[in-house]
Order: sequence, then C-alpha cells, then structure tokens
Amino acid sequence: MNTILAPSILAADFYNLQTQLESVEAAGATYLHLDVMDGIFVRQITFGMPVIKSIRNHTSLTLDCHLMVKNPERYIHDFVLSGADILTIHLEATDDPGHVITRIHEEGCRAGLALNPGTPIEAAEPYAKDLDQLVIMSVNPGFGGQRFLPSSITKLREARRILQNLNPAARIEVDGGIKPDNLETALFAGADVLVAGSAIFAGDVKANTEKMLHLIEDCEKRLPHTGRAGDTGTV
Ligand code: DX5
Ligand code: ZN
Repeated sequence: MNTILAPSILAADFYNLQTQLESVEAAGATYLHLDVMDGIFVRQITFGMPVIKSIRNHTSLTLDCHLMVKNPERYIHDFVLSGADILTIHLEATDDPGHVITRIHEEGCRAGLALNPGTPIEAAEPYAKDLDQLVIMSVNPGFGGQRFLPSSITKLREARRILQNLNPAARIEVDGGIKPDNLETALFAGADVLVAGSAIFAGDVKANTEKMLHLIEDCEKRLPHTGRAGDTGTV
C-alpha cells in the first residue's frame, strides 16, 4: 500500500496512551502524527519533546511531528534529539522557511512544510524541491474534530501538479477532518499521507484503524497512476 495513514494522538486518551498506541500499531499503522502546539502560533498548548521522547523509546512507528510552533528554528535540534523522523514546520510560522528546512535536513531528519487553509499553494512553490512532504491543512490548525474544508480538494490537486513538476518523490499529507467517508476524495485529489485523529481515537481504536486501512487499500485499486511518491517506489 502506497498511501500512509497517520493517526494523530491529539484525539487520544493520554491516560491510556500506551494501550492506544499498541492498538494502532497492531492494526497495521506505520506512522504516528504528533501535533505540537505552542500557545503562540496557535492558542492551544499540547506537548513537546519529553512526550515525543517517551513515545520514541517504545515504538518503531514513524514519528511525524507537526510543529504548530512560532519560529520553529529555535527547537529543531531538540526535536530531532527527542526522536522525530519527520519535522513539519508551518510556512506562516517563520520568516525563512527555506533556512529551517535546510536545518532539519542537516540534522538528518525529513522535512515537511504545512500550509494553513488561507495560505495559497503558490507560497510553497519556492520550497517544493527541498521537501520530503507538503502538508495541506484541511482545517484551521488548533483543534481536532473539525470539519474538512472542501476548498482543500482544489489545493490538493494543485499541490500534486506542482510536486509532479518539481519534486515527484515528495509526499502530500492532508491534515484535518479526514474520516472514512471522505478519504477517497482526498486520495483522488492527490494526497498520499492521511492524518486522522478523531476518526481513530474515539471508541475502538484498533477497529477504527483497521477500517480506515481497508478503505485506503480498496480505494488504491481504483486510483489512476498520478505520479504519487509511492508510485515511484519512494516511501
Ligand atoms: C489540527 C491538527 C490535526 C488534528 C486532526 O491542528 O494538526 O492533526 O489532530 O484531527 P482530526 O482528524 O480530528 O481533524
Ligand atoms: Zn497535525
């Protein structure tokens, strides 16, 4: 399966995090999406390096860290030390995204760039060739459980077109409001990493994860060959 499901622990029961992470892993998920919020870039505060480090010590899942952090350049080294595999920064959070992306790579980590719903896709173009993943926010960052913004579909298509020209190996992650009933639309528009928080961590975590993975598998059989990263064998 080329498409990746990235369960977001924002919606998890942190008291039972170990059990819940074992459930997503047992169901076959390979990524974990970790939403770091600093109270400045977004109003909410979630968790940081100590939590990521504790998770790292107990799992081999790919840790996909989404930094909703103002001036993330201050913390790149610390997040890499804590065990992140992918560090995604926000285009809106720094004056020099290109420099931060370079710093992330120099630290031996994969780099992602996230765009808020109000930020046009063209703003990502100057950085596209240097990215491992482009993250299209399909909700305004800050909370889980919001509704998927339909305008994200056009943006995903445009993102796929841009990356096909400039960096076909890069992945496109869609983040926010992904549910069993809209994942197909997101996949067909060009996403190949699907973040899901509330769709996974409410009720039976293992069954929810398995259901979404099955839906993705089924959907992939019907996907046209669109130049997704996975189509070229890149992970
Ligand atoms: C929102 C976060 C998302 C969130 C997604 O700021 O970046 O990753 O956890 O949660 P759902 O899937 O509930 O929209
Ligand atoms: Zn996120």
